[in-house]
Amino acid sequence: MFDTMTITKAGGALCGAFLIFLLGKWAAESLYHTGPVAHAGEEVAQAYTIDTGAAEAAAPAADAGPDFATLLASADAAAGEKVFGKCKACHKIDGTNGTGPHLDGVVGRAVASVAGFGYSDGMVSHGGDWTPEALNTFLEDPKGVVAGTKMSFAGLKKPEDRANIIAYLQSLGG
Ligand code: HEC
Repeated sequence: MFDTMTITKAGGALCGAFLIFLLGKWAAESLYHTGPVAHAGEEVAQAYTIDTGAAEAAAPAADAGPDFATLLASADAAAGEKVFGKCKACHKIDGTNGTGPHLDGVVGRAVASVAGFGYSDGMVSHGGDWTPEALNTFLEDPKGVVAGTKMSFAGLKKPEDRANIIAYLQSLGG
């Protein structure tokens, strides 16, 4: 049979162990906080939120106007021919070069590829083809896009003008 002291010791050990367990749990909880704490009137922050797209749908669409592809699709080549008046002083469309290289068939043509025209180093190293998109960025800001270009032209600031002139150049063929 156990004497009273043994039972007391065993009970004490059990209580002690339990106490340590409780203390450990409390310490762990204060270190690693789990679960939301909501204070009165506060929104509970979730560990992760499920994006339902509602926030985007509610946000107003940026007022940037139609993109270039849309503009080009509805571009007016006849209006572009008028804009081309700004280029005529330097660019011909009869296959001969002026101050600038001829522009017949320029849409889709490799950059700096007209034989016999002395391009700037900047234009030669620009590389690529004159896709409608490449022309669009170049014509908006020639010197910004092709550093050191010999083309002294400020650029066409209106997106519609650029789309129209590209449609016109496209209509000329090669
Ligand atoms: C003041 C003369 C001048 C005007 C105005 C001008 N350009 Fe140019 N353009 C040039 C010169 C010079 C080059 C060659 C640039 C170089 O080598 O850096 C050039 C190059 C280009 C090229 C590249 C051609 C190629 O073969 O790679 C395109 C495209 C072009 N011009 C389009 C236009 C358009 C469109 C306009 C009118 C909106 C225009 N330019 C107005 C002088 C001009």
